Amino acid sequence: MLRSTVLRLAIGYAALFAISALVLAGYTYWATDSYLARQTDKTIVAVADAMLERFRNEGIAGLSRAIEARLAEEADEDEVIVLVDRDRRVVAGNLETVPAGATGPWFALELVREQRSSTARMLRLPLNTGHVLMVGRDVQVRLEVRKVVADTLLWSTGVTAAIAILLGLVARRILTRRLASISSVADRVVLGDLSPRVPLTGAGDEFDRLSGDINVMLDRLTELMDGVRQVSNAIAHDLRTPLTRLRGRLETALAAADSPARFRATAELALQELDQVVRIFDALLRIAEIEAGHRRAAFAPVDLAAIATDVVELYQPLAEQRGLVLEAALDKAEIVGDSALIAQALANLVDNAIKYTPAGGRIRVATVRRDGLAEIKVADSGPGIPVEEREKVTQRFYRVEHSRGSPGSGLGLSLVGSVAKLHGGHLALHDNSPGLRVVLALPAAG
Ligand SMILES: Nc1ncnc2c1ncn2[C@@H]1O[C@H](COP(=O)(O)OP(=O)(O)OP(=O)(O)O)[C@@H](O)[C@H]1O
Ligand SMILES: [Mg+2]
Repeated sequence: MLRSTVLRLAIGYAALFAISALVLAGYTYWATDSYLARQTDKTIVAVADAMLERFRNEGIAGLSRAIEARLAEEADEDEVIVLVDRDRRVVAGNLETVPAGATGPWFALELVREQRSSTARMLRLPLNTGHVLMVGRDVQVRLEVRKVVADTLLWSTGVTAAIAILLGLVARRILTRRLASISSVADRVVLGDLSPRVPLTGAGDEFDRLSGDINVMLDRLTELMDGVRQVSNAIAHDLRTPLTRLRGRLETALAAADSPARFRATAELALQELDQVVRIFDALLRIAEIEAGHRRAAFAPVDLAAIATDVVELYQPLAEQRGLVLEAALDKAEIVGDSALIAQALANLVDNAIKYTPAGGRIRVATVRRDGLAEIKVADSGPGIPVEEREKVTQRFYRVEHSRGSPGSGLGLSLVGSVAKLHGGHLALHDNSPGLRVVLALPAAG
């Protein structure tokens, strides 16, 4: 139970509160009590002075008269005055007997007055005649008040601490109940079920916010898990096709191929099929590597125009061979990034444009710097991509229906998308009417 943060806090606060209350009240009590004690002593000394004055002027007889007169007229019940002779017999005053043995000027005297015992504070003054004058006051009330106050202090401290601990227990109960809903969701998630969400109370307090955050986190996790599931399904599906084809070919070759030449031809086709499988794996691994973000460590300043020059040069022969015009309009556009990845991304875009644009078409590659962005654009005059499919073509393995006939695995644009993300940029597909215009926008350097 002491492991509970709330309870520990409550106990800590109770202790702090009790101690400070005790110190404050204790000081007040002490200050008041010592003030009252000083007042008592002052009064005693004043009375004693007055009596001594009478003794000096009128001797023992005068003093006795003064004492009797004072006791007769004075209404102060707490006052104690007594004059004794050298044999300790009372000469005057309101005490019957006088205790023996007291030494020193100040002493405490136990009395019984009106059937109750009480304590008086006394001042003893020996006179030169051998008499002793004692003046004092009954301080029983003060002592009783002192005891009551001390008791009250102890009790209230104890009660305060008890109430604080009780409140701590109540708070712990409430918190435990609120945390229980989060725990139970966590338990189910641990068992592999990502569907439960923490119910919100609508109070908008810390717990609601925490629960909200946890729910957002679970949503995101679900999304990621779905992504992983979808990709692994797609991988299984997409590898199945070339592998099945490969199997079919080998089977036919075994059954029907009768000459070494036909075997050879089949083996070559099989190799191509296998190369395609390896390419898919390479592309997937590459995308995974980019998404892991490790390549960010190797970022350096690069000019998009320089990269584009190389890529365009590389693809020029292929474009010509397909009867396409490939042209470039390159402005200096510097970024901080990974030049090999950007070259790969641009190559994928140009490769698509060449692959999907029918002969006689035009492909235009441009780089520009605009509004803090460095952009690479690839525009073609091919069939384009319908608006509703533009989102999907950047997903892994997605291919538009019309391109099923051409070679490819649907990973090219996924890689471009992850390169954009890695650099903090984005990929946009527009209508080039006719054709497709792809814009890869990255944050410009400086
Ligand atoms: N320039 C384009 N014109 C028309 N359709 C395009 C163009 N670029 C891409 N697409 C469509 O988007 C789909 C996804 O492109 P992506 O580059 O990701 O895959 P792919 O070219 O089919 O295969 P891969 O690039 O992996 O060899 C293509 O299958 C095609 O349908
Ligand atoms: Mg492609």
